[in-house]
Amino acid sequence: MRKINIFDTTLRDGEQSAGVNLNLTEKLEIARQLERLGVDIIEAGFPAASKGDFQAVKQIAETIRNCSVTGLSRSVQSDIDAAWEALKGGAEPRLHLFIATSPIHMHYKLRMKPEEVIEAAVSAVKYAKKYFPIIQWSAEDACRSDLKFLKTIITEVIKAGANVINIPDTVGYITPKEYGEIFSYLTKNIQNIEKVSLSAHCHDDLGMAVANSLSAVEHGATQIEGTINGIGERAGNAALEEVAVALYIRKDYYQATTRLNLQEIKRTSNLVSKLTGMMVPPNKAVVGKNAFAHESGIHQDGVLKEKTTYEIISPELVGVHSNSMVLGKHSGRHALRNRVTELGYTLTEEEINKLFVRFKELADKKKDITDDDLVALVFEEKFDQ
Ligand code: KIV
Ligand code: ZN
Repeated sequence: MRKINIFDTTLRDGEQSAGVNLNLTEKLEIARQLERLGVDIIEAGFPAASKGDFQAVKQIAETIRNCSVTGLSRSVQSDIDAAWEALKGGAEPRLHLFIATSPIHMHYKLRMKPEEVIEAAVSAVKYAKKYFPIIQWSAEDACRSDLKFLKTIITEVIKAGANVINIPDTVGYITPKEYGEIFSYLTKNIQNIEKVSLSAHCHDDLGMAVANSLSAVEHGATQIEGTINGIGERAGNAALEEVAVALYIRKDYYQATTRLNLQEIKRTSNLVSKLTGMMVPPNKAVVGKNAFAHESGIHQDGVLKEKTTYEIISPELVGVHSNSMVLGKHSGRHALRNRVTELGYTLTEEEINKLFVRFKELADKKKDITDDDLVALVFEEKFDQ
């Protein structure tokens, strides 16, 4: 099995979600929980962005001992100096340097020629090398960059001392097949590529961030970046809990593993949702309220007979107490009998049949049937004649 490093950027790219602003105490609480979850790298912020970010990165670096803490930096000396001041107290300080490489970004945003971008990238890596033992270098907007240019600049930054090469899909544009092809191309065409780790960083504008990340794993990536609950700039980043659980459940296919303690997933998701104020949609994979809820009679009957009929992930795996049977108009007799028994009533088969008729009548008028509704129906049926 290949080991995949998990790089969590909830506190940096995740905090770039519109409307989210975490204070120092909240950031520390999330960082401690990420450590418990077992991520390999925490991107704690962007030290040069503000005094608050600098303080948060510094405190997190000095507090967290079981993962590497990193901070983002543009390819300029003042950012690198600030990042070192913030990160030097960490257990394994690493720098995350980036510069844009796509024609659109180089021309309109950086107003730099491709050769100038290469020069800036190389001198930033060389400058950072005097402080940092580990340097991650990111080609912003890599997926809309010219592949040959990408090859050239990556070759140069590896020569300058970069240890991790990240290929961000900054605007969530790429498809899984194309993303995999970029990794294959780089793996085959860059000298000494085996000496560095290749990383995937995907955004979810077209809803493909997790699929793209998994495609990268299939094509040589050994690090996946993302956020808890998939929060982040615009439509967000790859949801790390989905990537990790997919790798675990389909290890037969991916032949890759992470060191995440999967049972901490639900707790981490709840904490991030509470502190960022970003609600998790009920149907969200792995951590949504409905991820382990069964409503239809056919599914409920199957799950009550054997869970694996409709559950490929056991709720306990990700720290959810148990699955749930939601009683509504699609539910069947089996689930009804089960719930009534759990509520402490023993009904004959005839009583269950009558109750089932009343239950369906009510379910046609009301979306979810609560335990109180059920108790009232049982009383009408059993004791009220
Ligand atoms: O999406 C992106 O390109 C980024 C980089 C700064 C790595 O977040
Ligand atoms: Zn990003």
